[in-house]
Amino acid sequence: MRRGWRWCVAVGAVAVLGAGCTGGDDEGRFRVGAADVGDPYVPGAGNGGYDVAHYALKVRYEPPGRRLTGQATVTATATTGLSRFHLDLAGLTVDRVRVDGAPAKHRRDGNELVVTPAHGLPAGKRFTVEVAYGGVPQPLPSGELGDGGFHATGDGAIALGQPESASTWYPVNDHPSDKATYEIEVTVPDGLAALSNGVPKGQSSRDGWTTWRWSEGSPTASYLTTLVIGNYRVSTGTHAGKPLVTAVAATLPANGPAATALARTGEIADYLASLFGPYPFDAYGGIAVADERIRYALETQTRPVYGPGFFRGDRPNTEVVAHELAHQWFGDSVSLARWSDIWLNEGFATYAEWLWNEHDGGRAVAQVFADRYAATDWTKPSVDPGRAALFGDAVYQRGALAVHALRRAVGDEVFFRILRGWLAERRDGTVTTADFVSHAERVAGRPLRPLFDAWLVGATAPALP
Ligand code: ARG
Ligand code: ZN
Repeated sequence: MRRGWRWCVAVGAVAVLGAGCTGGDDEGRFRVGAADVGDPYVPGAGNGGYDVAHYALKVRYEPPGRRLTGQATVTATATTGLSRFHLDLAGLTVDRVRVDGAPAKHRRDGNELVVTPAHGLPAGKRFTVEVAYGGVPQPLPSGELGDGGFHATGDGAIALGQPESASTWYPVNDHPSDKATYEIEVTVPDGLAALSNGVPKGQSSRDGWTTWRWSEGSPTASYLTTLVIGNYRVSTGTHAGKPLVTAVAATLPANGPAATALARTGEIADYLASLFGPYPFDAYGGIAVADERIRYALETQTRPVYGPGFFRGDRPNTEVVAHELAHQWFGDSVSLARWSDIWLNEGFATYAEWLWNEHDGGRAVAQVFADRYAATDWTKPSVDPGRAALFGDAVYQRGALAVHALRRAVGDEVFFRILRGWLAERRDGTVTTADFVSHAERVAGRPLRPLFDAWLVGATAPALP
């Protein structure tokens, strides 16, 4: 889903282009859609020439054989005349592809699925791609960032990972710049839970298999989709009139720290809404997994996934819950156009931890700020930190310091007005650092670029505002 493009009208096989169209297809000429979006942090990720609006996924998973069978229906609009286009799909075997109901040629090229429809797709045309596929999914080795993607577990599976994971279980335009809505149906052996994003749409059982249905009606970046299958204690309720689904791995203690922390999801989301504006989605939740390979938490849309490391001993760690819930605003609702701006996600989510902690009786924000300021290595930039440092201190801690520096510079009233305006105006969109700086300047009515430069990328400790 991309904004700012309304005037492309397809007439027969000829695309009529108007203002706002990008990419030139004229007189029925078609070209090959790009094999990636050109984000240097994730070579090969995403594709060009179309914009996905919706994914309808039906997957079946058999834990003993680790086999996944899937049918994906991708609804997209061509943004240029297309003779051929790519989807990202890692491993797995494609049995059949149809475009608008007609059989299409397809081949694999590494982690790309290359589709040649029977007829070219004119710019502006909405089309559907149906892919029948299957196999034994594997994680994507991401080098220094750890594996993302599909992990088979003893009792099921966990598909999770940033910056990439979706292509290990469905064909996808795998980059946050192309958000889409989702309907996900997961069929698993009776007795296992199958959790995913959004609103629960019920379950039905037949012949020893149970199908769990999920619907996410807000645009979602592909790395924010998840699939968690296994033995879980699932609790389904409502919060503020919306469904709230939490799940805790059955091997974790029933009333242990994970369950206790996740039980505060609604309360923490309400606190964040009091600062940031209304919760942006139609459902709430969280999933605590027990698999030790998941060494992080991830802000999967409406239902973050928490690795077991956050809930050791007996301390219910609510900071991580505040962090992942803050991402629902910063990262999920307002998303990155490119990975080099990841501080826009992590700086704000880390700052939200500080705010929650202070609110919950922990350390004062000013104290955390002073400590982090003293501990920061200013030679490392928050913006464009390099792929290996996507999850480093320069992104999380220095990013949060920059957020607090802005607050000190403009005062509380203007600061929270900047945040709420940003989240409301950019809701469901994708953004860059420059967008945030101009927004802040507009609301504050004064230049702020020097402040952001100093706090985000300057090589020496900035003066305190
Ligand atoms: N965005 C996640 C968070 O801060 C972190 C994901 C870390 N991923 C990783 N491969 N280490 O909540
Ligand atoms: Zn984060």
